[in-house]
Amino acid sequence: TAAKPASRGAFIVLEGVDRCGKTTQASLLIKHLVGLGLAAVAMRFPDRTTMVGDLINQYLQSKSELDDRAVHLLFSANRWEAAPALRKTLIDDGANIICDRYAHSGVAFSSSKPSLEDNLDWCRACDVGLPAPDAIIFLDIAQEEAEQRGGYGGERYEKKEMQQRVRKRFSQLQEMDEKDGRIPWFIVNAAQTIEEVQIEINEIVEKTVEKVQSEEQPVGLLWK
Ligand code: TMP
Repeated sequence: TAAKPASRGAFIVLEGVDRCGKTTQASLLIKHLVGLGLAAVAMRFPDRTTMVGDLINQYLQSKSELDDRAVHLLFSANRWEAAPALRKTLIDDGANIICDRYAHSGVAFSSSKPSLEDNLDWCRACDVGLPAPDAIIFLDIAQEEAEQRGGYGGERYEKKEMQQRVRKRFSQLQEMDEKDGRIPWFIVNAAQTIEEVQIEINEIVEKTVEKVQSEEQPVGLLWK
């Protein structure tokens, strides 16, 4: 059997509205951590490679119609099905995880739909108890700036009105987490150059990794 690693890995989540540069930054960050000699694994949600993910993919591409609550539960199930592997990576392998979107996207997007806008608690409930991030890095960008980046793609939520509502929901979720005091948020101005954004993210992540290693806290339970 493999020796137990000296400490668990850090669970870092990148969040933001569509077109904020998350995906680019996630891959740069992995390279940076590996360059520092730290084990780093990329994850993303939705994970479209699973059976649940395939249903989500069909929905996002408007190839299927689903009730708003049903699709919200699929996004949540897509995280729950990944949770054992996520814990194993952090705890048994001692590797850091860089995750492109997680539960906060789940709540921000679903609760931006008219049918769910008064149901924030319901939207959060199904993600309660998932492995909790050690840090949320929110790539912040003004709506106009995001739109200038080549426009949105053709997927279901990539529309101006929806994106504006989502942005507000993210602020609300940030406030709730800050009141609760367990998951720290770091807001990075994503209108800067790729290099500038990268420098800020690297610093936040290096500090978070150090904190996780020195404090020896177990992986938290989200919103519990
Ligand atoms: P992606 O562009 O990062 O692959 O995400 C696809 C879309 O899914 C994006 O518009 C955000 C949305 N989304 C949800 O609605 N709920 C979720 O739980 C997640 C992770 C993403």
